[in-house]
Amino acid sequence: MPAVTLTCKIFSPENPFVFESGVRLPSVTVAYETNGKLNADKSNVILICHALTGNAHAWGAEDDPGWWQGIIGPGKSIDTDRYFVVCSNFLGGCYGTTGPTTINPETGRIWGARFPRVSVRDIVRVEHELLTHLGIQRIAAVIGGSLGGMQALEWGVMYPDFVRGIIPIGCGIRHAPWAIAWNEIARQSILNDPEWLNGEYTAQPARGLALARMIAMISYRSAPSFELKFGRTVQQPGDSDLFAVESYLRYQGEKLVGRFDAATYVSITRAMDSHDIERDRGPAATLLHDSPVRCLAIGIDTDVLYPIAEQKQLAGFFPHGRYAELHSPHGHDAFLIEFEQLNPLVHSFLTTL
Ligand code: COA
Repeated sequence: MPAVTLTCKIFSPENPFVFESGVRLPSVTVAYETNGKLNADKSNVILICHALTGNAHAWGAEDDPGWWQGIIGPGKSIDTDRYFVVCSNFLGGCYGTTGPTTINPETGRIWGARFPRVSVRDIVRVEHELLTHLGIQRIAAVIGGSLGGMQALEWGVMYPDFVRGIIPIGCGIRHAPWAIAWNEIARQSILNDPEWLNGEYTAQPARGLALARMIAMISYRSAPSFELKFGRTVQQPGDSDLFAVESYLRYQGEKLVGRFDAATYVSITRAMDSHDIERDRGPAATLLHDSPVRCLAIGIDTDVLYPIAEQKQLAGFFPHGRYAELHSPHGHDAFLIEFEQLNPLVHSFLTTL
């Protein structure tokens, strides 16, 4: 069955969603997809959490593949013949869930840059409410890479009785100053685009958003990856004014402008920067010392954005924690590329739950 994006409304005026900041929303619309069948005791649920510019379409038909097609589906490690797989667009996203591109019911206008400050914990609370709405009381596992990994980790901290295992990939227990710095230059490129208009734009600040993506793409790869993919090749034979790597970055920038929203980019990068499991809670060692949650933290040996020391540290805080590594020249993006390595790691972890 091809995946269809569904929407539902959760929370209500009597039971509003309250952001960490204290701002309230009377309801939240969530766009989500499910694949596979829920078993009789509803114990076969796997939640997929997407990264910064992702969406609920993690898996689909052959002619409409999802962004994690390589590890989800019949015969893959997240086997849809065995598991009931749920993936939602997160709170503050721009793929159908309440966020900067949706209407503020109080003003009748698009939220834009005025959308309330979102945190990873806010995102996870909405995911928990979605699953509860679907009649699910416990899930086998939650998995994600990058911002998806931060959500998986927060799930382990916030709902240890709801989730048996977590697989955070390419993230740490906190967003390090190094990663915040990459986000900040991407944000500044948007905020400095004259078309940003203080967030009141009607046409996208395209140049700023494209530049933000180009900057981020460098952090998602590595020097060996670019060497391998492009070398010093020029895009058009005989034209030394455009190297293939420049053409690639420009293409990636333009492509994002066509499918993403600038205010959402600014808001969600701030959500990433909010990530710190110790914030207002105390040391991770104390927080997790008796956690029943099983954790497989996966690092990527060439990840310059979230170095492997962060995933090793993360795994070490869980009494039932384990670290595994992807070996790839492709840096942070390896979790979207190296499926031959990722599948057996995820498969063997899921069989232990
Ligand atoms: N000039 C212009 N375009 C080029 C190019 C060049 N020299 N070389 C490649 N491209 C294009 C390809 O045609 C392809 O286009 P398409 O996406 O429209 O089909 C695109 O660039 C992707 O190619 P590439 O990055 O080489 O593919 P990959 O298999 O190595 O990586 C992804 C796949 C999905 C990981 C990668 O494309 C991507 O989107 N990375 C960013 C994902 C992300 O957001 N990661 C961070 C999460 S926080």
